Amino acid sequence: MEYTNHPVISATGLFTPRETITNAELVESYNNYVERYNDRHSDAISQGEAEPLQPSSVEFIEKASGIKARHVISKASVLDTETMAPRWPERGDDELSIMAEIGVAAARDALAAVGRDPADVDAVLCAASNMQRPYPAMAIEIQQALGIDGFGFDMNVACSSATFGIQTAADYIRAGNARSVLVVSPEITSGHLNWRDRDSHFIFGDVATAVLVEDSAMAPREHWEILGTKLKTVFSNNIRNNFGFLNRAHPETSDAPDKLFVQEGRKVFKEVVPMVSAMILEEAEKLLIDPQSLDRLWLHQANAGMNRLIAQRVLGHEASATESPTVLDTYGNTSSAGSIIAFHLHRSDLLAGDAGLICSFGAGYSVGAVFVRKVA
Ligand code: COA
Repeated sequence: MEYTNHPVISATGLFTPRETITNAELVESYNNYVERYNDRHSDAISQGEAEPLQPSSVEFIEKASGIKARHVISKASVLDTETMAPRWPERGDDELSIMAEIGVAAARDALAAVGRDPADVDAVLCAASNMQRPYPAMAIEIQQALGIDGFGFDMNVACSSATFGIQTAADYIRAGNARSVLVVSPEITSGHLNWRDRDSHFIFGDVATAVLVEDSAMAPREHWEILGTKLKTVFSNNIRNNFGFLNRAHPETSDAPDKLFVQEGRKVFKEVVPMVSAMILEEAEKLLIDPQSLDRLWLHQANAGMNRLIAQRVLGHEASATESPTVLDTYGNTSSAGSIIAFHLHRSDLLAGDAGLICSFGAGYSVGAVFVRKVA
């Protein structure tokens, strides 16, 4: 086969955990925890030595974020006020790990969508916010489970991991180092979320996505040409997680709140919206794409208000639900998988020649933009 070194998206895949937690269920559990905490600390609170915790509310969550529910891998333990974290039976080294398992499910969905034989895939990138362990790489475990002969490695750019993975895969194809690359994003975000923190306990959900990036020569008839990709990072402490392998030297602090997701949500909102919009507009100009003519924006799913503002700045008008689809309402923030879920679920109505943008943003700060056009 004559290769073109021109990268395209051949397919996407999605794994959605069966269990969901509605805002009402989440708030009931959180408020039970608050009541028990305040009871346990009633003496200190009444003597002014401790602050009582405030209850959460369904109305606030939906108004502030647009989230109505989220999928999780382990609902019972998340809602159990003694645990408030995902838990599942420990698996042996000979069993597929949970993160690889959901990654493999999403990858199989993508491969099956176009009838791609794993033997024809050259590389697996596991691109996600958190890895279950440092090594062997999650990507290599997924590669092995799928029966792929080639190479794999993990990459983490928080909420932008999947788009950074797509550009990395596209660069392998541009350079001729691979023809077919799976970018897998298993996001078990319930593990980094502090379910005891009122300001953020509602934000995240679990999911896995996969994107098959290939040389156009081997792509199926219907595919998405990658018109251009652009990545940007700017250091910020406003979204941070201090968990790491060096913490085990300090067991007394290893499960402290700063070893989970922490953010200054307002600052993130204010600083990230202009950064993302400016990057999209600059890159569109370089690619000679009129941003106002983009048929669809598949944006990172963190906050409905943020997406409204970004879409407005890019399209020049208030975006309709069709132009900038939302999956945040039922999935919550699924970190790097969010824009990929939107692309997976909301593209089948577009026609050959239609163009769109997959864009993610988040901790780092980081922004990843992938401009695509449908070819059929
Ligand atoms: N229930 C009820 N009230 C709550 C609450 C909860 N769960 N959490 C916070 N509040 C209250 C606060 O006490 C505060 O009250 P006050 O004004 O009387 O002090 C008020 O709501 C505003 O809190 P704030 O945290 O500033 O809310 P917000 O409107 O900025 O929304 C976020 C919070 C996190 C949803 C929003 O800032 C956001 O989504 N930011 C961007 C996040 C993002 O993209 N992060 C990237 C992650 S990858």
